[in-house]
Amino acid sequence: MSLCEDEKKLAANEALKYIKDGMIVGIGTGSTVDYFIEGLGKRVASGLRVKGVSSSLKSSDLARKHGIEILDDFQGMMDIDVDGADQVDEKGNLIKGGGGALLREKIVAYNSRNVCIIVDSKKMAGNDFGSFPLPVEVTPYFASGTVRHIEKLGAECTLRQNGSFVTDNNNLIADCKFGRIKDPETLHSKIREIPGVVEVGLFIGMANEIIVGSGKQARVIKIK
Ligand code: 5RP
Repeated sequence: MSLCEDEKKLAANEALKYIKDGMIVGIGTGSTVDYFIEGLGKRVASGLRVKGVSSSLKSSDLARKHGIEILDDFQGMMDIDVDGADQVDEKGNLIKGGGGALLREKIVAYNSRNVCIIVDSKKMAGNDFGSFPLPVEVTPYFASGTVRHIEKLGAECTLRQNGSFVTDNNNLIADCKFGRIKDPETLHSKIREIPGVVEVGLFIGMANEIIVGSGKQARVIKIK
């Protein structure tokens, strides 16, 4: 296994320590979360009782395969949300949506008491926050027009897979290269104002802690 995969696994295993009997667990999406699902499945097999709310069809399928009950409808606050990220800045703001699940991921995070982000060390962007193209979910209706408006904010955008990548919500993803993002709050508001934008992959002030797999250990950064 590569160092990066080891780090993802370390972070996922650390997050498993936060999961207690009886919890409702928000489950994110991505390769790091897949390790978390695998580990959670093992704990469920040895008697842990939890229910999951998943942020994607892919994670739901994997969780069910590992014996984790996934609720299709849950209205209330989840005890914890465990999710990955594409980049993390020094304040714990996130770029998400590399897997195209950002809308449901944001809904799950917003409805969770504790948002725990698990990443490998390469995701800690520092001054490079924004070098990962920002994913923005847009309606298929007028998508090219919507993308043109995002570009006016200073980005170069492409529709993922030439517009053939369709999210679980039947929308498209625009990957937007802004370069370094110094003021994520303002950028987030400006993009959100554009009709046709469904959600932006900037998660500002949402994470409670970042667990970083770093070399041979997991480091916990408490944000709030
Ligand atoms: C999916 C996401 C993922 O959390 C993000 O892309 C990180 O994925 P990975 O753990 O595979 O690096 O936001 O929409």
